[in-house]
Amino acid sequence: MMSSICGSFAQPGRRTLWATILVVCLLTAPGINWWSASEAGASPQLSVIYVPTPERLVHRMLEMAEVREDDYVIDLGSGDGRIVVAAVRDFNARAAHGIDLDPQRVAEGRENARRAGVEDRATFEEGDLFEMDFSEATVLTMYLLQTLNLRLRPVILETMRPGTRVVSHAFNMGDWEPDQHEVVDGRNAYLWIVPAQVQGRWQLSTADGREVTLSLTQSYQNISGHAVVEGASMDLNDVNLRGDEIRFVIGSDNYVGRVEGDTMVPVQTSGAAQGWNARRN
Ligand SMILES: C[S@@+](CC[C@H](N)C(=O)[O-])C[C@H]1O[C@@H](n2cnc3c(N)ncnc32)[C@H](O)[C@@H]1O
Repeated sequence: MMSSICGSFAQPGRRTLWATILVVCLLTAPGINWWSASEAGASPQLSVIYVPTPERLVHRMLEMAEVREDDYVIDLGSGDGRIVVAAVRDFNARAAHGIDLDPQRVAEGRENARRAGVEDRATFEEGDLFEMDFSEATVLTMYLLQTLNLRLRPVILETMRPGTRVVSHAFNMGDWEPDQHEVVDGRNAYLWIVPAQVQGRWQLSTADGREVTLSLTQSYQNISGHAVVEGASMDLNDVNLRGDEIRFVIGSDNYVGRVEGDTMVPVQTSGAAQGWNARRN
């Protein structure tokens, strides 16, 4: 059909009509993307509209995350770049990066970084946050929507290093309870620490040669479990997981360990057992 219409173009006296038809033929030809939405100047399909976080809350969010010199902060949906700029300008983060789908916002972020004199460490990228790899961040910030937070939740838990701090303005993460919640000028701010994955059975060898079997169950940062020591089963007491640091008490022995994949090693802390190690079965 399309080729028969296009093939009749050479008839004289009807040039304007046929030129129009030719353009339509080209634009609608399958497999040819002559005019993409961005080239046409159309607005990107944003998952959430732009609303800036007030500066006081920006500051508090970065304080809650305890941003320091060795941090790499990524703001998902970075707007005019205020969180990214504040992270390096006010908290001296090693670097900060903003991702936004709207090119106008990305340009504003770059301009604000330039004005603050931090454009070498505060960078911006145009793109869809759901297609980006942000797993290198040590601090992740966002002001999105609850539905978007829930889409991000498994990505955060599965790809980000234990101990990564996640701060959200306004919206929570469903049944992943925050480690900290504050209300600033009537607005909610939430902090989560990405927990290590510790669920399973572990074989713990003590410094004096005893073998302990640990069984841990986990829901986000909440863990519980029991230990079998020389045939006797006992609950773990004072169990706590914060990032990659795990604490528990077996009988009168206090354990503080660092989780590294399928192993745990003791942390040097006064009053805590030393010389032990544990491996997940
Ligand atoms: C509520 S604003 C937050 C801006 C900034 N983070 C702040 O707190 O001031 C949300 C931002 O997300 C951006 N955005 C929306 N959908 C996005 C997507 N799929 N990928 C990346 N950015 C997106 C919008 O352009 C907007 O700038």
